[in-house]
Amino acid sequence: MLNATEKFSGRVGFLGLGIMGAPMAQNLIKAGCDVTVWNRTKSKCGPLISLGAKYRSSPEEVAANCDVTFAMLADPESAIDVACGKNGAVSGMGPGKGYVDISTVDDATAKLINGHIKATGALFLEAPVSGSKKPAEDGQLIFLTAGDRSLYDSVAPFLDIMGKSRFYLGEVGNGAAMKLVVNMIMGSMMASFSEGLLLSKKVGLDPNVLVEVVSQGAISAPMYSLKGPSMVKSHYPTAFPLKHQQKDLRLALGLADSVSQSTPIAAAANELYKVAKSYGLSDDDFSAVIEALKAKSHDTA
Ligand SMILES: NC(=O)c1ccc[n+]([C@@H]2O[C@H](COP(=O)([O-])OP(=O)(O)OC[C@H]3O[C@@H](n4cnc5c(N)ncnc54)[C@H](OP(=O)(O)O)[C@@H]3O)[C@@H](O)[C@H]2O)c1
Repeated sequence: MLNATEKFSGRVGFLGLGIMGAPMAQNLIKAGCDVTVWNRTKSKCGPLISLGAKYRSSPEEVAANCDVTFAMLADPESAIDVACGKNGAVSGMGPGKGYVDISTVDDATAKLINGHIKATGALFLEAPVSGSKKPAEDGQLIFLTAGDRSLYDSVAPFLDIMGKSRFYLGEVGNGAAMKLVVNMIMGSMMASFSEGLLLSKKVGLDPNVLVEVVSQGAISAPMYSLKGPSMVKSHYPTAFPLKHQQKDLRLALGLADSVSQSTPIAAAANELYKVAKSYGLSDDDFSAVIEALKAKSHDTA
């Protein structure tokens, strides 16, 4: 059983060991938690097993052997498959257990998984994160949670190992919605920043100086200072894959559509990310969206 009063108690499962999941699980292990891992590509479990994690061969087995199971999957399709598919986590859930989905999905997906988990008698919390690879490594993520309040209280010690802050937003779907709004803003910011970098260069300015100027004013954002210098060098080391940023914009546009909210800036940004994907940049960092604009200017030159 989960126990909120005993710190770090209980067996913790972790499904999905990608850019984000691996360092998050690693922080749990380093904090002394009893962690069991699974990943579709088994080789990614190796480094965590070396650190002391146990391994089970399916999401079902992980869930059956743990009190609370975290999942950090790529998108709605994989989140549903790992939770509700064959040998999925749902098959191993039951009363007294909890499932925490950290993946960035849409509200319909969060509600669907919630329904399947709750039907087993277990509790469900959606908990997508704001923050990227480095904050995941440093335990500095921001959790945007919604769902069962008692599960939120139980897993708070784990969230506090992996993150620096947490928000409880009420009904399932609100966590996904908050995350999508945040990433919709971020995607548009990066697209706009890309235009600025290219324009500054074309009119004879040094884009590195633009990065410096931006960093000192009211539109300063850590993202610009972090990504700007490498974007100027056309380097895009992956922290947040471009394909995931485009997925988030797509889902955010769907969310906006569902309530007839106009989002023309996000819609335009989404087109740029789609172009970048078509150039084979899906697995590069999302800052590679600047390449879509470079190609455009070449085309029209
Ligand atoms: N990176 C960031 O900065 C960041 C920040 C906040 C939120 N997020 C969100 O967090 C989630 C994970 O991001 P990430 O950057 O860690 O992505 P990632 O490196 O691409 O990892 C994706 C994970 O999902 C698994 N997966 C994909 N398709 C699957 C399927 N059909 N069945 C089973 N497993 C599947 C992958 O397994 P394999 O190893 O077998 O491919 C991997 O473990 C995404 O929803 C993303 O939008 C990312």
